[in-house]
Amino acid sequence: MGTSIPADRVPDMEKRKLMNLLLLGAISLPSAGMLVPYTYFFVPPGSGGGSGGTPAKDALGNDIYATEWLKTHGPGDRTLTQGLKGDPTYLVVENDKTLAPYGINAVCTHLGCVVPWNAAEKKFICPCHGSQYNNQGRVVRGPAPLSLALAHVDIDVDNGRVVFIPWVETDFRTGEAPWWS
Ligand code: FES
Repeated sequence: MGTSIPADRVPDMEKRKLMNLLLLGAISLPSAGMLVPYTYFFVPPGSGGGSGGTPAKDALGNDIYATEWLKTHGPGDRTLTQGLKGDPTYLVVENDKTLAPYGINAVCTHLGCVVPWNAAEKKFICPCHGSQYNNQGRVVRGPAPLSLALAHVDIDVDNGRVVFIPWVETDFRTGEAPWWS
């Protein structure tokens, strides 16, 4: 028995190099993405009088402008956007065709599944273990122990962009302190 590496194994070295390169790319891409929220943190947009906050993004990663959004999202609509810390967050359209001043974080408080909106039932119903939340994200059936987290929704006065701002006040649905802040 020889100890030399079989000839058909030799090209693996090249493959390994390639894999390492791919891996590096995979690691550096998300880190580059993570810089964005930090940039917003240190350089508040709209310097001088702007409301600040984290711009809401649509499914394609584009900024959301209130006027445009309301042209295509009618009363009662709840659509997922990218919210604070990248969390999936529902923008809510009120019956008077304005944006609700709060967004609803879609991460289930049981084990973290993203909870879809069920328009027919007018509830958020978690597909994982059946937790239910009312149309404002207040928990109405377990096993989820808590209501869905809230974020303030604001419209940048300078450009009409929709932004999220952390919700640190009392939870208006329960009258309790926000568990998420
Ligand atoms: Fe939603 Fe369990 S993760 S009910």
